[in-house]
Amino acid sequence: AHEHCAVSVETKSGVFGFDCAPGETLLYAGLRHGLTLPHECATGTCGTCRARVMTGEVDVAWEEAPGAARLKRDKGDILLCQTRALGDCVLRVPAEVAEKPARHQIPAYRTGLMENIRRLTSDVISFEVALSTPMEFDAGQFVVVEAPGLQGARAYSMVNFTRSAERIELVVKRKPSGGFGDWLFGPGAEGAEVKVFGPLGRATFHADENKNLLMIAGGSGIAGMMSILASAAESDHFRTRKGYVFFGVRTLADGFYLEEFARRVAEANGNLEVTLALSHEEPSREDHPDHPGVKLAGGMVHEVASRAMAGRYDDLMAYVAGPPPMVDGALRTLITQGGLSPSAIRYDKFG
Ligand code: FES
Repeated sequence: AHEHCAVSVETKSGVFGFDCAPGETLLYAGLRHGLTLPHECATGTCGTCRARVMTGEVDVAWEEAPGAARLKRDKGDILLCQTRALGDCVLRVPAEVAEKPARHQIPAYRTGLMENIRRLTSDVISFEVALSTPMEFDAGQFVVVEAPGLQGARAYSMVNFTRSAERIELVVKRKPSGGFGDWLFGPGAEGAEVKVFGPLGRATFHADENKNLLMIAGGSGIAGMMSILASAAESDHFRTRKGYVFFGVRTLADGFYLEEFARRVAEANGNLEVTLALSHEEPSREDHPDHPGVKLAGGMVHEVASRAMAGRYDDLMAYVAGPPPMVDGALRTLITQGGLSPSAIRYDKFG
């Protein structure tokens, strides 16, 4: 794909057209145009961006993407986030699609410089990206980051929350064979230029919904919750509303952002509860020895949340983020025990 391609999409709500830049995935091109194409992860794992190629030639970047496992490839099914147009093409997307009215929330490409890379625990690193142009986003959204010389793109939720952000803070948990994590922990990352696409994601916080907030997160899934807490603090949400945060890590030593949690709890006048759930260690006390206000509990985070939340699900919006098994466990708890409807649950699954 060396030139712009014209893409036409047939959807349940009509036909839309957009332009695809050379090398750009169909999903990003459509989103950049302001279309609400179905997607969740934007990185090939969820399968939500399924579409069918009716005419035209395309190139699939990642054939083995987990999200592609159930596609009918012989019928021309593809993942929009993993596919590029090689010429003009016609696609069919089996969903309602609209054109976004609010210009500022339309995702776009930016470049950014990697700054302030710091280790939070033995395998968690946080970093900032100084953006080429400011970005508006909702608390709970994420961006996709591409690093120089590394294959593929990774999705990270913003930790901070500010109007028209010139810098975003992101957090990464290092995986055993994680290319990006290894690169971050290595010498070349500080000051490097990365490509950022976003904002993306619908697990967002909106103060005007005026709900109590329940947040269940595993590992780096806590990132978006930090942004939600920051946004909630800005709108003085916890003056009248409750917040419950359950943050799952393996051991006490794996906890991070604890100072910030302690501060948020102190500011919230008893309306915010934060519990660190330890899956591989039974805590010897009920609150954190160094961070007063942060409670401790032993067990998987969704089980800890389930015990603590019994009878307290009134009038709330639940946010869940973390590895798929944790998210699935939490969703079951929220639906069966909490009696929450799907519209009261916003989640973000990542591998
Ligand atoms: Fe394409 Fe998740 S959005 S697989």
